[in-house]
Amino acid sequence: MNSQDALKRKAAEAALQYLDGISVLGVGTGSTVNHFIELLASFKSKIEGAVSSSEGTTQRLKKLGIPVLDLNTVGDLEIYIDGADEINPNLQLLKGGGGALTREKIIAAASRKFVCIADEGKYVDYLGRFPLPIEVIPMARSFVARQMVKLGGKPQWREGYVTDNGNQIIDVHNLEIFKPIELEQTINDIPGVVTVGIFALRPADVVLLGTETGVRTLTAS
Ligand code: 5RP
Repeated sequence: MNSQDALKRKAAEAALQYLDGISVLGVGTGSTVNHFIELLASFKSKIEGAVSSSEGTTQRLKKLGIPVLDLNTVGDLEIYIDGADEINPNLQLLKGGGGALTREKIIAAASRKFVCIADEGKYVDYLGRFPLPIEVIPMARSFVARQMVKLGGKPQWREGYVTDNGNQIIDVHNLEIFKPIELEQTINDIPGVVTVGIFALRPADVVLLGTETGVRTLTAS
């Protein structure tokens, strides 16, 4: 395990303390969450199951014998555990590096508590150094890309990648996101956009950052 991976593992371990009394949880996507899924296996007798944010996560959960439940039948969730590509001091996130942003945003919205787990390298003053993923309906890809140029970004098609929902992804470089809520709303309003990877309207409630010296807990003020 390299050192960044070890920090991800620490954050994932710290998330286990939030599972007391939880019957159904939401599970995100990515390498940090993969650590969490491994650890969740020892909790499987205590939970009814998990709502998954991607086909990849579903496969991992099932492999460990953790039932995967349909969000339509379980209703709102007590807790959602997921990673992020960037986290700012207001616990607003940039997500979607793994392409699962749409299902992740749905589960985050349907959860009473959103616990984000990450290595400390994800913590930034401002979002936007990491290219901003946008899931788009395929026929709207170029149109959305042109709108992103007007907003000052440099869009790049994630060529060959198809989301779990059958859509495409544009990664937008060169954005400095000083007003995450406003930009999330603006991009959401572009026809053809399915989801933008800014999670500011529904930020995390708790961030667990794996650091060299332990786990730093950030909470919404
Ligand atoms: C997937 C995501 C992930 O949470 C994000 O990309 C972080 O991934 P990792 O834990 O591998 O660094 O948003 O769509």
